Amino acid sequence: MGQKLALPVYCSPTALQRLFHHDGERAVAAAAEKFGTMFGVSSIGTVSMEEIAQQVTVPQAYQFYFHKDRGLNRAMMERAKASNIQVMMLTVDSITGGNRERDLRTGFTIPFRLNLKGLWEFATRPMWGINYLTHEKFSLPQLDAHIKMEGGASSISEYFSNLLDPSMNWHDVEEMVKYWDGQFCLKGIMSVEDAQRAADIGCTGIIISNHGGRQLDGSRSSFDHLAEIVDAVGERIDVLFDSGVQRGTHVLKALALGAKAVGVGRYYLYPLAAAGQAGVERALGLMKTELERDMRLMGCKNVSELIRKHVRFR
Ligand SMILES: Cc1cc2nc3c(=O)[nH]c(=O)nc-3n(C[C@H](O)[C@H](O)[C@H](O)COP(=O)(O)O)c2cc1C
Repeated sequence: MGQKLALPVYCSPTALQRLFHHDGERAVAAAAEKFGTMFGVSSIGTVSMEEIAQQVTVPQAYQFYFHKDRGLNRAMMERAKASNIQVMMLTVDSITGGNRERDLRTGFTIPFRLNLKGLWEFATRPMWGINYLTHEKFSLPQLDAHIKMEGGASSISEYFSNLLDPSMNWHDVEEMVKYWDGQFCLKGIMSVEDAQRAADIGCTGIIISNHGGRQLDGSRSSFDHLAEIVDAVGERIDVLFDSGVQRGTHVLKALALGAKAVGVGRYYLYPLAAAGQAGVERALGLMKTELERDMRLMGCKNVSELIRKHVRFR
C-alpha cells in the first residue's frame, strides 16, 4: 500500500489502549516510530488520531467501522484525510462481537460488573488505579463528536448496537473506497472469494485475520488461508496478515508465503500493560532481533529472499 516500513511487523489497531496503560496509543505510536513501522489507531481508540499524527512520521492506519449514517462515514473519512492518515482500514469481521467468555468471568462486560476477581485485580495493582485517576479523563476522541459518552461502557454498547450498520454490503464498501480515493484495506478477510471481491472494488490491500481468534469460535487460523489467498490475488493487491503472531519465526513463515507485512495485537498489548512505551519497544526490539537472527540462520539477506520453499506443509 505504498508505505515503507523498516520492520515487516506493524502494531495492529486495538481498542481502548489507555485501559492497558495510561499513555495508551501515545506509547504504541512512539514505539512504532522508533522502529520505523506502521501502527493503527482504532475507532474506539482513547487518544485522537490527529494528536497521534502530529507525534509521528511513520504511517498511521485508521481502523474504521461502517456506520448506518453514510454522512457520518464521510465525515470520519474527511477527518482522517485532514490529519494525513495514510491507510484506511475497514474492519469487516465485527458485525457483532464474539462471545468472550473470559470477559464474563472478570466482569469486563457492558455494563461493567465489579466481581470478586475484578476487585482482586484492582487491589493487587494499585498503580493502575492511581494512574487512571491522576491522568486525563478517559474518552473516545474518534467518536465523542458523534455519540454521547457520559454513559461510559453503555455508550460503547450503544455505539455498536445503534450506530453501526450490520447490513453493510460490497456496494457500500465500494462507495467508501471511491470516496477515500487512497490506500484502503479490508481487515478480517478469510476467503479467496472475498479477497477477489476486495480487489474488484478497488481496495489496495487486505488483511487476512480472524481478529486474534476473538470472533468466530472454531474459525480456521488466518495462517491457513494465507497461501491460497496470496496465490489468488497477490498480483493485484497487497496481502497483509495477523492473528496469533508471537515470534519472529511466525513472521518469517508468513512473509515466505507472500504476506507483505504482519500485524501483531496481543504481542504488544501485554508489554504495554506491563511497562508502557518501554514495554512495547522491548517487544518490538525482541521481534527485530529474532527476525534478523533467524534470517541469518536461514541464509536470507533480505525479506524479499523469503520464498515459498522455506515453508514445508505437512
Ligand atoms: C484487546 C484487543 C482489542 C482489539 N481492538 C480492535 C479494534 O478496535 N479494531 C480492530 O479492527 N481490531 C481490534 N483487535 C484485533 C487486532 O487488531 C488484531 O487483529 C488481533 O489482535 C491480532 O491477533 P493477535 O492478538 O494474536 O496478534 C483487537 C484485539 C485485541 C486483543
